[in-house]
Amino acid sequence: MAQRLAQRFSGKVVLITGASRPEGIGAAAAQRFAGEGATVALTARGAAGLEAVAQSIRDRGGQARAFPADLGDPAACEALLRAVEAAFGGLDVLVNNAGANTRGHVEHQDPAALANIIQINLVAPIVLTRLALPRLRARGGGSIVQVASIAGQIPLDGEAAYSASKHGLRAFSFALREELAGSSIHVAVVSPGPVDTGFLLDELDDVPDIVFANPMSTADQVAALIVESATDGRRERTIPARTGALARLAAAVPALRRALTPTMNRRGASAKAAFRLRHRG
Ligand SMILES: NC(=O)c1ccc[n+]([C@@H]2O[C@H](COP(=O)([O-])OP(=O)(O)OC[C@H]3O[C@@H](n4cnc5c(N)ncnc54)[C@H](OP(=O)(O)O)[C@@H]3O)[C@@H](O)[C@H]2O)c1
Repeated sequence: MAQRLAQRFSGKVVLITGASRPEGIGAAAAQRFAGEGATVALTARGAAGLEAVAQSIRDRGGQARAFPADLGDPAACEALLRAVEAAFGGLDVLVNNAGANTRGHVEHQDPAALANIIQINLVAPIVLTRLALPRLRARGGGSIVQVASIAGQIPLDGEAAYSASKHGLRAFSFALREELAGSSIHVAVVSPGPVDTGFLLDELDDVPDIVFANPMSTADQVAALIVESATDGRRERTIPARTGALARLAAAVPALRRALTPTMNRRGASAKAAFRLRHRG
């Protein structure tokens, strides 16, 4: 693998959060960064999953190490950055990819679960970004890539707190871009629509039908955009791009949204049934 790809990240240290599930976006991004020469630091709570992903990168000739941490704890975030710096000498790229979701109408949600969504999807990326900035500066610059969602471009009912967290993450990132304008630190956002990972499968019954009305991406397609974003610092990439454009239009024109919703829900319900069959038989 090391020879196959251009070594754009040779000598660079990349920290990727939410990389504990082999089929997830974080693991796919880690494989791609390592394939381009990076030393990758992987974090999430699940130590065994992280170690399996790290081992599979090392098996392919890459450099990877697991740093288990609960990102809900700001002190653990600080300890994580210190540990990565101690192990690899610095940091060049931070990918805030870890995410949490508990679906259903707000009224029926556990308040602690709602708070956790905001903590993991918004507060933790802000805390980690804050901790990363001086370290990136010490290396002469670097990149921060935030994994948001198309649910951060249009308010998604049935996933209200999740949608709020991803809107917030985009807003934070775009504001920070302005603060850093003219510097050598780039902040980029990647906003996927539905992606074929455990994140959807975990609570499949509660995922709103409309989510499945859109084409499904693979984790590797999203990972490719994360790597490109770390390279060129483009403000935002949305996948699928057409789904994002339609979502932003529907968010801006509520009457259009209401008109489209019944058809999208019908289309989504049959796509969801096919998805369920494919994964669960
Ligand atoms: N799949 C989709 O349809 C989709 C669509 C749009 C955006 N996204 C976003 O893509 C990102 C990656 O999701 P994915 O689809 O690849 O799902 P995933 O494999 O389930 O990834 C979520 C990761 O977040 C980690 N995580 C959750 N709570 C954590 C905590 N307290 N501390 C540290 N890590 C924590 C999980 O690891 P542990 O449980 O081991 O801690 C896991 O590795 C998320 O930000 C998600 O919002 C996904």
